[in-house]
Amino acid sequence: MVSIAKRVRPLFLKLAAFALVASVFASVSTLSLTIAGEPAVEPHRSPIALALSGDGTRLLIANQTSGSTSLVDAKESRRLDEIKTGEKPSGVAVSRNGERGVVVHWYGGDLAILTIKGGKLAIAGRLPVGAEPRGVVMTLDGKTAYVTLGVANEVVRVDLDSRKITGRLTVGREPRGIALAPEGSRLVVGNARGQGVSVIDVKDWRVVKSIPIDGDNLRQLAFSPDGKQAFVANMKNRRFPTTRNNIDLGWVLGQRLTRVDLVGLETFDTLSLDTQGRAASDAHGVAVSHDGRIIAVSCGGTHEVMFFRTDLKRLPWRSESSRDLIAPELLKKDGRYQRLVLGGRPTEIAFGPDSKTLYVANYLTDAIQVVDAESARLIETIHLGGPRTPSLARRGEILFHAAERSFNQWYSCNTCHTEGHTNGLDFDTLNDGWQDLSTFHEKSRKKVPTLRRVTRTGPWTWHGWQTSLEDAMVESFTKSMQGPRPTPDEVNALIAYLDTLDFPPNPNLEKDGGLSPAALRGREVYRSPKAACNTCHRGPESTDGKIHETGLEIPQDRYQGYNPPSLRGLYDKDPYLHDGRAKTLREVLAGDHSTDKVTGHGELTKQELDDLIAYLMTL
Ligand code: HEC
Ligand code: HEC
Repeated sequence: MVSIAKRVRPLFLKLAAFALVASVFASVSTLSLTIAGEPAVEPHRSPIALALSGDGTRLLIANQTSGSTSLVDAKESRRLDEIKTGEKPSGVAVSRNGERGVVVHWYGGDLAILTIKGGKLAIAGRLPVGAEPRGVVMTLDGKTAYVTLGVANEVVRVDLDSRKITGRLTVGREPRGIALAPEGSRLVVGNARGQGVSVIDVKDWRVVKSIPIDGDNLRQLAFSPDGKQAFVANMKNRRFPTTRNNIDLGWVLGQRLTRVDLVGLETFDTLSLDTQGRAASDAHGVAVSHDGRIIAVSCGGTHEVMFFRTDLKRLPWRSESSRDLIAPELLKKDGRYQRLVLGGRPTEIAFGPDSKTLYVANYLTDAIQVVDAESARLIETIHLGGPRTPSLARRGEILFHAAERSFNQWYSCNTCHTEGHTNGLDFDTLNDGWQDLSTFHEKSRKKVPTLRRVTRTGPWTWHGWQTSLEDAMVESFTKSMQGPRPTPDEVNALIAYLDTLDFPPNPNLEKDGGLSPAALRGREVYRSPKAACNTCHRGPESTDGKIHETGLEIPQDRYQGYNPPSLRGLYDKDPYLHDGRAKTLREVLAGDHSTDKVTGHGELTKQELDDLIAYLMTL
């Protein structure tokens, strides 16, 4: 038999040749990650984003965990092709005529231009765009793409014919979702960690306005057909401790559909999505039918899609501040509101031209689901490929995204530790032993730590009192989530998943992977007796695994001192310190965690501080 291993190089390879070989013993093309000498492993696809061509015939899909992009015949619900495109695809767009596609790669930091011809995909070009691209849209003519960069906080304009970046605009913190107005004059961008939507004038190429919204974890955005309104799916941190009572009233956090007025550019209003006793979790996708009669919202944690019918009666939008729970009138079953449980983790969604067919990318089922939005029924499931039985780590990933593991399904691990990282918010999850919630809950709040490389950075929690990661998992389920105790097998699965989480490539290194002169000087400061950072932040994970009192202790707290957090990936861990009090590294090191306060050796000079920060950005 022909050796597959020899024919397949791991990345960025058009798999046509392989598919030919594979099709001898498998149906359609199966994408496999092959390590020389070992049998092929069929990877999970994990579709995270999708885009539909203007005529509704072609669907392009970004598969996050297989590093591939899939092409589907939307009319016949059939897989057509799949190619490797890069590391962790995160967004796709397709031209109106369905002949050109683009895909951006979250960990790859690039955009690949695809040609779509005769049901086949090919890479026509690739260009680096910057750190952590998250979302992309394309003009109808397929000539220009706009990409959101989650770490650089920018929107980048790419001329696809010349393959050049022709503009960059700064928006809010962690832009992800991006949508282009139907007539093409405006872009809206959702700043996931920036509590706002940025509105961009395409022709003038400037940010017209950043509209603050009272919400967090902003995901997909969509325009109304007249372009006068934009919608975004988001979460709202309500800041109360995670007791069952608070959770059930919607006082810990809740899900929202937020509407922004693009004419007045001032106001926003919301619909709460949570029903008491059966909440919604991890609102992700939003789409408006072309006739404007239906707004659909997907919720990854509760595995569902919700439909709001705008043609029947006005929806009970609430200005500025939202209700704690869904408007009671929507529960009267007058047809305005319906829920459809689809399983898995529904992410991005898109309406077909008929205004009733809804396509749903479902990350955890490795499939595209086709739903009839009129009757709220699942019509078809298009499997994109993937192993039949999930691995231990995949089972952990499923648990990580499962809202039913929290009290009345209000949230999942993913709500706070988004994609295993942090949403930058702070919560009181009761696992620091702080008892007096009435008096001190503001002070006992902790910033959500990233879980990247967390299996290597014990002890756990900010105070570092937790020395067993297994026990930490039990605490997370029973305290943070107020849900049932996990079985030992579930704990193992979750830890196996956490073990897969790592940092994206650091964007602040020099081209050769080395340090700039400033960062090199900063490294000397870091190790100097005056700063002595490496007495506590040391070793490969820059933590010594011990507890230190650094002056931020609170006398009423059950635990004194903190475990030095790992400084890896610091450039994207803001806000900083255990309660998120510092927005920038400068605030940390010139403020409550200055060398003088920590070691008593006096303050750093301005030059030393600048260099030190340059170094910290490279970790
Ligand atoms: C409501 C938000 C929220 C949810 C939901 C949540 N966490 Fe956390 N998590 C936090 C916060 C805040 C901390 C810091 C707590 C502390 O230090 O006292 C934390 C700490 C942790 C830590 C310790 C990290 C470290 O570096 O020390 C782990 C591991 C963890 N969470 C895993 C999980 C898992 C797994 C789930 C789901 C079963 C989960 N969390 C659900 C907010 C949350
Ligand atoms: C005596 C031990 C110790 C020394 C020395 C020390 N740190 Fe820390 N560091 C800690 C602890 C403990 C925390 C957590 C404190 C908190 O959150 O309240 C921390 C937190 C931080 C944070 C915030 C990280 C985050 O994710 O929020 C940064 C950045 C940091 N240290 C950098 C430095 C630098 C740079 C130096 C040297 C100038 C230094 N530290 C010296 C123990 C130390």
